[in-house]
Amino acid sequence: MDINVMRVEGGRPLMGEVAVRGAKNLVPKAMVASLLGQTPSVLANVPAIRDVEVVSDLLRIHGVAVEWDDDGGLVAMDPANVDAARVADISVHAGSSRIPILLCGPLLHRLGKAFIPSLGGCAIGGRPINYHLDILRSFGAEVAKEPDGVLLSAPSGLRGTQVVLEYPSVGATEQTLLTAVLAEGITELRGAAVEPEIMDLVAVLQKMGAIISTETDRVIRIEGVESLTGFTHTAMPDRIEAANWAAAALVTGGDIAVAGARQPDMMTFLNYFRKIGGAFDVLSDGIRFFRANGKLASIALETGVHPGFMTDWQQPVVVALTQAEGLSIVHETVYEQRFGFTEALRSMGARIQLYPNCLGGLPCRFGAMNYLHSAVVSGPTPLRAAEIEIPDLRGGFSHVIAALAAQGTSTIHGIDLIDRGYEHFNDKLAALGARFWRD
Ligand code: EPU
Repeated sequence: MDINVMRVEGGRPLMGEVAVRGAKNLVPKAMVASLLGQTPSVLANVPAIRDVEVVSDLLRIHGVAVEWDDDGGLVAMDPANVDAARVADISVHAGSSRIPILLCGPLLHRLGKAFIPSLGGCAIGGRPINYHLDILRSFGAEVAKEPDGVLLSAPSGLRGTQVVLEYPSVGATEQTLLTAVLAEGITELRGAAVEPEIMDLVAVLQKMGAIISTETDRVIRIEGVESLTGFTHTAMPDRIEAANWAAAALVTGGDIAVAGARQPDMMTFLNYFRKIGGAFDVLSDGIRFFRANGKLASIALETGVHPGFMTDWQQPVVVALTQAEGLSIVHETVYEQRFGFTEALRSMGARIQLYPNCLGGLPCRFGAMNYLHSAVVSGPTPLRAAEIEIPDLRGGFSHVIAALAAQGTSTIHGIDLIDRGYEHFNDKLAALGARFWRD
């Protein structure tokens, strides 16, 4: 049997409790930060996902001693013997994740050079690294593109700089932070992303001894210091996974308590969840999600940078909108090609049309570029089982949600993509009463 296949029998509401641990989009970055310290670091609430394995391995091949206790979700990292890694060992990770690019600043500070393999990540757009390389150059790094990656050096060290981002990129903001904290002098970043995961990374760096102030209008100011220590930190919970379980409750007519989910990180999601017809109770350690009454309502939605509606929340909500009365409009403004997952939903009976125009909101940077980045969803349409292929991590969870609500048994290929970002996925589904088979 193909281990990358999951068969899901739909038509049963998901009921019960699941727990989310540390955010996939914070944990690997906090682990990278450990490279900057002179003493060991400990990160708690770390989920068992593939991206964490990739970063652990990248740290190990650079001489960091990484110890992992899955039960407690604790990772200890000792950077006492940081050293250059062999290109062949680094290249094993080519195409596996976006994280390697964030090792640049810390490695340049520690070793004066860094080699970064070609990056991976989900196929949801071009995913260029021009901001990252421009930022590193402005700190004084020399950047040489090689056939299988990028070679960087900083012969005369890294100096604080002025960075102005034309778009508030999460990765470029993290690149600036991880490089500026040990650069000589002051760095001012304008147009910064301010996602909660970035603020949690700032908290980690502050614990290490960094001086970072977040000012109004997306300005972050970093005063470089001479050295940093290790940190002890508990990673913020994964608000993307929490939103997926919320949507699973809504779409299947179930009732799911998500332990660990935090209201302040999910305010924008919760507003839309309520408008669509979801209800929630904020508990002392989590949020319980369910349907307010029978029917779901259509909405107009635009994704955006924080504090807007996350692009990573869009996919499960689109599945919910296939069950809502009337026409919904979804305008994706963060990634130019993030509607690939809707093809499978159409094969399950959903009515979703894609458009190159900026529908229902302000024009975005993709409007003039002919990308199909707006969707009109008309509902409600009953979903029926189908054989489908997962195109990307977030699209994948939304396919599982659709299959859980569909009549019949769906066959989902490429399910291993889910393991990149969601831990104990099978166990959680089983605990909620889902019927599925996966070897
Ligand atoms: N961009 C550029 N040039 C760059 C970098 C980004 O043009 O050098 C563009 C991108 O093409 C995109 C936009 O800027 O259109 C935003 O990208 P950003 O840099 O903010 O994204 P990222 O840091 O690569 C992280 C998450 C994504 C999440 C986005 C937005 C990680 C590992 N990834 O990506 O998460 O969607 O921020 O919040 O943190 C996922 O978890 O499945 C995922 C894709």
